[in-house]
This record gives sequence, structure tokens and C-alpha cells, in this order.
Amino acid sequence: MDKIIIRGGKRLSGTVPISGAKNAALTLLPCALLTDEPLTLRNLPRLADIDGFQHLMNQFGISTTIAGSRPEDFGRVMTLEAPRITSNVAPYDLVRKMRASILVLGPMLARMGEATVSLPGGCAIGNRPIDLHLKALEALGAQIELASGYVRAIAPDGGLPGGRYSFPIVSVGATENAIMAAVTARGKSTLQNVAREPEIVDLCNLLTAMGAEIEGIGTSGLTIHGVPRLHGATYRVMSDRIEAGSYACAAAITGGEAVLKNARIEEMESTVQALRDAGVTVEPRAEGLYIAADGPLRPVTISTAPYPGFATDMQAQLMAMLCRAEGSSVLTETIFENRYMHVPELNRMGAHIETSGRTAIVHGVPQLSGAEVMATDLRASMSLVIAGLAAQEETQVHRLYHLDRGYERLEEKLSLLGADVERVGDD
Ligand code: UD1
Repeated sequence: MDKIIIRGGKRLSGTVPISGAKNAALTLLPCALLTDEPLTLRNLPRLADIDGFQHLMNQFGISTTIAGSRPEDFGRVMTLEAPRITSNVAPYDLVRKMRASILVLGPMLARMGEATVSLPGGCAIGNRPIDLHLKALEALGAQIELASGYVRAIAPDGGLPGGRYSFPIVSVGATENAIMAAVTARGKSTLQNVAREPEIVDLCNLLTAMGAEIEGIGTSGLTIHGVPRLHGATYRVMSDRIEAGSYACAAAITGGEAVLKNARIEEMESTVQALRDAGVTVEPRAEGLYIAADGPLRPVTISTAPYPGFATDMQAQLMAMLCRAEGSSVLTETIFENRYMHVPELNRMGAHIETSGRTAIVHGVPQLSGAEVMATDLRASMSLVIAGLAAQEETQVHRLYHLDRGYERLEEKLSLLGADVERVGDD
């Protein structure tokens, strides 16, 4: 197991390329199930989660070929082709390692009339049920059975009829599953209170390029007119707004500056607002976003919320940055119940953070100190890296596999900004 060693205290400066979005890629890949023609995805990030999803798709009989991956390039191009599906079962072993496997349920059901997926269970950041995925598919006409840790969804003869569903709470994954199931239904479907994340827009744009008919893209109400078949497409995955936000916090905590190549301000306005409230300069440029922190960081008050609110996936990284603000910030986590696991680790690095239920109060400190730390999830791990960049002396972040799930070649990108970082094997 690798770890990353950071010798902190260096002011970051330079240009860093932002990769394709992990969470968009994880919902674009299963769209290959919806057509017997080739689907080519460009700008796919090179991440452990994408490799895992590719493996899952191969298990269904889908062929995957990779092009354009010189070692020095970021990202890659993958063509998926599914003229024939040989299995409609997503087994426990794969789903356990990658929760996003649940996103094959809707498209597999649409394509094969039946899909069986292992129940994902809980994860480090909370209980994470899938009841809304199942209710939405039921509303579209599926019959759902739960047995032996698996969910089986079955469509009536002739395919899903389509239907109406209003989500009681906003769910990104459940919205994605419902959209992918509805695009080839026999009739019209109406989905209300859907998630509006840019990754959902990316999904709808790809499906439209494949021949789907979706009205209301980017709003909280979608009307989907089912079409008999979808065709292949070539599509570029959107930039990763969470990766971009993470590098913004990394540059800012060191009092540095960075150009985040390919980052798009219109997809990350709540993060940009939080950074500006903290005194960080953020300017759109032709090639991406320019970030500069030349004065002291100011405290902010933030609550996580579904898009366009402040993303829960940015909470840990912003918190790390605010450890160095002049004053006390108040962060409230409203999406997941257990998403402060980075707090004790940040405190071990000299931060002063108090939590009470869903709220964390971050009292800014003049200096952080390096330590050996580890986190139990992806964004929490990144928050420790960000703190390490500003800390005196050396920080070692263990369990690098969390970061490899979501940050393409992290240490290389940090080095491009002038950080002193090194990946080494853990003993
Ligand atoms: C996605 C993202 C994840 C992000 C999250 C919230 C991917 C692969 N992952 O996760 O990085 O943190 O959105 O922006 O895109 N819920 C239910 N029942 C359900 C589904 C969800 O109660 O059937 C609850 C969850 O427990 C959570 C809330 O709804 O409290 C939002 O979760 P959801 O938007 O579904 O998150 P994911 O799609 O799992």
C-alpha cells in the first residue's frame, strides 16, 4: 500500500490540468449498455474506480478498448461495444469495492428486461440506502425483488412502460438510474425533484447524442419520451469540478496561485463563491480558472446542499483550507451523516476543529504541523494532503488507494505546482 510524503510550507504556483470528472464518467460508462453500437468516451480520467467499472462492464460481455494513452498524457479514450450482453448480474465482489456499480441497474433493466445487482451496503461516509433508486424504477414499471443481498429488477414483457416519479429527496445516483431506465421505455416518463448536478447534465447530453429525447435538462423536472433504440456516439467527459476545487484549496492554503486548466466556473459557482468569501481571487481565463491567495484567508459559513448548493464532496477540502483562516468558520454537513472523519486527523496536525452533530467549527490557527495521518475516504484523504502542503515539516498520508480512486496522478499534478511530494511504498 503506497503513502504520500509531503514536505510542506512551499508556496504553490503553476498550471495544473484538470481531468475528466470521475462522477460523470461513472454514469456515462453504463450508457454503453443502452446500445449495440460503439460508445467512445474521451477525456476519461485514469482512476482506480474507472478501471473497476471497466472490469464490471467486461463481466457483462461488453468489450472495451483503450486508445491514446501515452504515459505522459492525462486521461484516455475508451470505446465500449455491447452487441450482445452475456450476463445481467453485477456480483457482490465488484459492487462491494465500488458503490457506483449500482448505476448499471437502470440501463441493464432497459436493455435486457432484467437486472440483478448486489446491494451495495453502507460505506465510510454513511448508511447510503438505495431505496429511491428502486422506487423510481418501480414507478417506471419495474418489479423489484430483494433476496440474498441482491436486488432483482424485472420489466414487463415488451419493456418498461415508463411513468411518473417525484423524488422525496434529491439523489444524484437515483436520478441517473431513473433517466437511463426511462430513455428507451415504451412511453413518456416524468421525473420531478431530480438532482441537477452538472454530471446529470453531462449524462443527459450524452444520451441526447445517442438519440434520446429528454426535455428540461438542467432543471429539477425532466420529461423523457422513450425511443425504441439508441445509437452509438463519441462524447467528451466534462471536467472534474471537485478535482478543480481541491487544487484551488491546495493553492490557496499555501498563499499561492494556480491556473486550473479546463476547469469551468459555471459548473462550480458555489465553490468559487466560498473561495471568494474566504478572500481568494478566482478569475475565469480562456484556458480555465485562475486562483490566487495573496492576503490572509478569511473565515466562512457554509452548509452543504444538492447542486447548485455547496457540494458535500468539497466540504473536507474547504475545511482543511479554513484551518489557516484568521477567525472561526462554521461548516454544516447536510447530505451524509458521517462525513467528519478527517476532523480528528486534521486536529492531530495542529488544527482546532470542534464538531457537534452536523456542524463543525473551524478555529483558524497560525500554523499546522506535519504528522502521520490516514483517512477512510477519498475527499477526507485529500483534505489531509491540503493541510500537509501548508504544514511545517513532513506529513505522511497513508492509504493512498483512497486518493487513487478520485485524483489522477495526484503527486505529479502537485509537483507541477511546485509542491515537494513523493509517493513511496508503505511498510
Ligand atoms: C453521488 C456522488 C458522491 C456525492 C453524492 C452527493 C457519484 C458516483 N457519487 O453519490 O460523490 O457525494 O452524490 O452529491 O456520483 N439517499 C437515500 N436513498 C437513496 C439514495 C440516496 O436516502 O436511494 C440519500 C443518501 O443517503 C444521501 C442523499 O440521499 O443522504 C444524497 O445521496 P445521493 O445524491 O444519492 O449520492 P450518491 O448518488 O450515492
